[in-house]
Amino acid sequence: MSATINLEKKHFPVLLDEIIKIISPQYSGTFLDCTFGQGGYSEKILENSKNRVIAFDRDANAIKLSEKFKKHFKDRFEFNHKRFSEIKSINSKNIKAAIFDLGYSTDQIFDEKKGLSFNSKGALNMKMGLNHFSAHEVINKLDKEDLTKIFKYFGEEKDAKKISQAIFRKRNNNILKTEDLVEIINKEKKNYNFKINKSTKIFQSLRIFVNQEISELIYGLINAYKLLPINGYIVVVTFHSLEDRIVKFFFKNYSEDKKVSRYLPSSKNENKIFEILNKKIIIPSAEEIKKNPPSRSAKLRYVRKVKESANFEEFLSKFKNLIEIENIGKKLC
Ligand SMILES: C[S@@+](CC[C@H](N)C(=O)[O-])C[C@H]1O[C@@H](n2cnc3c(N)ncnc32)[C@H](O)[C@@H]1O
Repeated sequence: MSATINLEKKHFPVLLDEIIKIISPQYSGTFLDCTFGQGGYSEKILENSKNRVIAFDRDANAIKLSEKFKKHFKDRFEFNHKRFSEIKSINSKNIKAAIFDLGYSTDQIFDEKKGLSFNSKGALNMKMGLNHFSAHEVINKLDKEDLTKIFKYFGEEKDAKKISQAIFRKRNNNILKTEDLVEIINKEKKNYNFKINKSTKIFQSLRIFVNQEISELIYGLINAYKLLPINGYIVVVTFHSLEDRIVKFFFKNYSEDKKVSRYLPSSKNENKIFEILNKKIIIPSAEEIKKNPPSRSAKLRYVRKVKESANFEEFLSKFKNLIEIENIGKKLC
């Protein structure tokens, strides 16, 4: 049996060689691919016949591909059509690493039905899968104040208030579609940066909110930690600053000794549960970016679990305001 499946894929697995280099000392065991997507990471890990993969993806489109994997790799592969915040539900011990490749696969971005991009037409959607509401409901139902918070905190959009006021005025007698939203943004937003499309930040904020990406990431990381034995790795690839801030805080806050002041020696961090293994953040090479331009914003961080703990209050309270903004979504459920 060959080790690869030879599938036609549109998605380039980002930082694949770097990930394999990081996790290969852990080989001969079970790996969690928390974001299966087009199966790029899973397939490479399964090339080694001593490895098993337990994969997760919230997108129903991943099920079909996972069935091919199952047929090919038999009991070395398991797929869960679940959100990765639910990884605790699996029944497997001695996991070697949990790997997260956040963001979207090329297939999802170009799927017109998902409407993730500002180039899409028709009703807004943005659901990755297993969602409770869509961007259509967000834009057409939430009030101005809630929209402003979503745009400001999840998109870091300077004109958040102006844009939400214009949405509110425009939707008075109309149901707003993707092209209407793009038109409003183009009219209301000043051009601060000619290199990026004016709609980029608003669309990013809606994707984060619709898919509850902040709580997914926070609880995904906590639950991955809980599931791993001592010496297990957590490996994360992020694609925007908000995600990276969360991962960086989680890893640093629970690994480094605390420095209250630069004039005092640092005090021992009692809650030190990780060892950070990469001193410098890992980013794609110029060659990879040339081959696959969307990889340019990728950042890779990874840690080794060194101690058991059940206390994540500091982590949760640091990002409490972002979780509260995601909770606005409960009004639409
Ligand atoms: C960037 S792609 C992963 C690509 C994959 N590493 C590969 O090589 O093909 C991200 C995938 O994660 C999935 N995903 C994102 N957030 C998720 C979540 N909270 N739970 C489960 N799957 C998620 C998306 O549906 C998407 O398929």
